[in-house]
Amino acid sequence: MATFQPPRGTNDLLPPASERFDALRVLATDLFERAGFRRIITPMFEDTALFHRGIGESSEVVRKETYTFLDRSDNSLTLRPEGTAPVMRAIVSNHLWDEGTPIKLHYEGAMFRYERPQKGRVRQHHQLGVEAVGVEDAILDADIVALGWSLLQAADVGGVTLLVNSMGCATCRAAYLPVFVAAMQGRVAQLSKDSQRRLVENPLRIWDSKDAGDIAALEGVPTLADALCEACAAHFTQVRDALTAWEIPFTLRPGLVRGFDYYTRTTFEYASETLDAAQNALGGGGRYDGLVESIGGPALPGIGFGLGIERILLAQEAAETARPARALDVVAIPVRAEDVSHAMRIVRAARAAGLRSDLSYGERAMKAHMRHANRLGARFAAICGEQETSTGAVTVRDLSSGEQTECSIEDAITRMRAHPEER
Ligand code: HAM
Repeated sequence: MATFQPPRGTNDLLPPASERFDALRVLATDLFERAGFRRIITPMFEDTALFHRGIGESSEVVRKETYTFLDRSDNSLTLRPEGTAPVMRAIVSNHLWDEGTPIKLHYEGAMFRYERPQKGRVRQHHQLGVEAVGVEDAILDADIVALGWSLLQAADVGGVTLLVNSMGCATCRAAYLPVFVAAMQGRVAQLSKDSQRRLVENPLRIWDSKDAGDIAALEGVPTLADALCEACAAHFTQVRDALTAWEIPFTLRPGLVRGFDYYTRTTFEYASETLDAAQNALGGGGRYDGLVESIGGPALPGIGFGLGIERILLAQEAAETARPARALDVVAIPVRAEDVSHAMRIVRAARAAGLRSDLSYGERAMKAHMRHANRLGARFAAICGEQETSTGAVTVRDLSSGEQTECSIEDAITRMRAHPEER
């Protein structure tokens, strides 16, 4: 019979990678909540029109990468390719501004993009994200940029370059666009087919290209960051000054335009110094001052970021900071079939006391039980034979030193809990 594999571009996340995934979520939730963000959980699919309006018809994601389908009532739905538009939709659906601003929300979850799968680029990826809505202050931009930076530091991902840019507002873009288009029209022959199309549909996207010819063609072309209006330039200066004051190193990247239409003013990306250039973005984000209004809400500004969990795990591996696999604390070994129930009592008591504990199943020789306990990485074996079962005691064996003592269950647990170093 044909066997099934995970669909192309998706992965089963097995232990210990799944445990590192969870550890990252815990780390992020703690950090985000300490910064005043509260958790939001939105559906995994939304009306298709939300993404077309929110992230833009001409974005690569909407043009080529959405998983869109009709449900049984012929509604067009799309698996969310990103988290910002859904969170803004939830803010609008639930009038969250009624309770005051800023509205600070964090989220975690699967995102779906029909991309060409390769290392670090999958069709179902997971993001950790934050969004702060209702405040235009540049200090919020810097706070958000710094928050993502702190998380990556705490997650030990190795070297990261923080790239920042400003995409200005509609006014600066309207003034800049003809200048940029004229410059690129003079170099159109150098551009890739994709960028020739972008020049007509959405010229700024050319800045996003990874094509060597496009990169060469952009050399010396005036940037949007040089053409900001007074208000946007002042805002951008404040963001950079705050990052400098807090000693967060950053690199100005005038070409950082990012892939969605909603971005305005500050944009940023965290680039891993250890992953391949095409997949080195550990996360990114920016301001989206017109997004809430464009999907039918009030004119509320916003800013946030999304971090790619799979990429962070890859960077941890590359930096060799991945935490060792979690092992069991104790394996209980029944010597005879009659000792199983007593051994299981010990397992249950140890679990209740917070120790990772399991039973060594099956009737087998003591040597085989010990090999099993070692393979599980257990620190202790709790041996239950005829004597232990009859007195209600247990023999605890330290599997690294070989030392063993017979004692009560309570004493055994106290002893095993006193060795927390690998937990
Ligand atoms: P994004 O840059 O498209 O931004 O995605 C954020 C991060 O998700 C990327 O930097 C990358 O680490 C990860 N990622 C994206 N696509 C894939 C993929 N196919 N495979 C693996 N990882 C991937 C957003 O989605 C915005 N919503 C971020 C944001 C929040 N902007 C403002 N607020």
